[in-house]
Amino acid sequence: MDKLILGIESSCDETAAAVVKNGREVLSNVINTQIELHKKYGGVVPEIASRKHIESIDAVVGEALDNAGVTINDIDAVAVTYGPGLVGALLVGVSYAKAYAYAAKKPLVPVHHIKGHIAANFIAHKELEPPFICLVASGGHSHIVLAEDYTKFKILARTRDDAAGEAFDKIARVLGLGYPGGPLIDKLAKDGNPDAFKFPRVRIDKDSLDFSFSGVKTSVINYLHKLEQNGEVVNKADVAASFQNAVTDVLCTHTIEACQMYNIKTVALAGGVASNSNLRDKMSKLCKKENISVLYPPPVLCTDNAAMIASCGYWGYLNNDFADLSLNAVPSLSIED
Ligand code: KG4
Ligand code: ZN
Repeated sequence: MDKLILGIESSCDETAAAVVKNGREVLSNVINTQIELHKKYGGVVPEIASRKHIESIDAVVGEALDNAGVTINDIDAVAVTYGPGLVGALLVGVSYAKAYAYAAKKPLVPVHHIKGHIAANFIAHKELEPPFICLVASGGHSHIVLAEDYTKFKILARTRDDAAGEAFDKIARVLGLGYPGGPLIDKLAKDGNPDAFKFPRVRIDKDSLDFSFSGVKTSVINYLHKLEQNGEVVNKADVAASFQNAVTDVLCTHTIEACQMYNIKTVALAGGVASNSNLRDKMSKLCKKENISVLYPPPVLCTDNAAMIASCGYWGYLNNDFADLSLNAVPSLSIED
């Protein structure tokens, strides 16, 4: 029998709700983004994010049900992101979902935000089945994950310092491009030379696939300072393209090595940075040589949304992974829990 899951997401600066059928078919996907509110501060202000989530969540959930043409009675379970993320922001979604599920007498499924990002690929690629390797690169995380099953994940690599998206946002800020930086760097880099500067590609140690992006970030910032001190003009497009080239080189090579180590022939991309055009092109080209297929969701399912949470919640539902009213927000939740 078909299962309809209502997903709720509020871990950062998007208040989102969606209805997804059988983990793969999106019936509605409502995203109320707060980007405009946070833009003038150059990043997400947690207190503003929480307040805005409170203001919008009820209308967003209502709209998701309306757009799907269903009522809460038709829903089989309520899935909600309970971590990782900003604690105040997460609490809004978790409290709302608990109250909603309790009032409607529906089961509550707790969802890990990063597992949600990975699940976006189940929506975009109906034929996708585990095992596969997923590169999850977002504003807060950079992981290479082995999806062993729909609900079982093993971390093969993580970042030791900055997340890839965080580095994109920081470099965009120093180049004066605005927030969020990833899409702006992606766009500007199209007019630049990716080999104009050789920024570092860091390998923590030879036995580890872990990432480190603080070195490339510092190297770009030092280079810009030097130009400024010498009164030289910055070619922003060349800097953007060379920086992006360095980051995507590392993301691609480590991911392909992970596939070789685990003998996996499918790579999925997830998270906001998975919308990066250079990352998609490079990963596709390099994987082709290795006979590995590459999948990625459309941009709207890469950045934060609740359809991915509902999809992930569906697999949790099938696995009887339910929460009671003691469910709390866990800001630094591990993916292997
Ligand atoms: O997954 P997401 O929406 O939120 C988190 O869970 O963090 O990711 C947001 C991040 C931001 O750092 C943003 O700059 C980055 O994804 N991003 C991109 C692109 N689109 C979004 N980075 C590089 N290229 C893009 N096209
Ligand atoms: Zn996210």
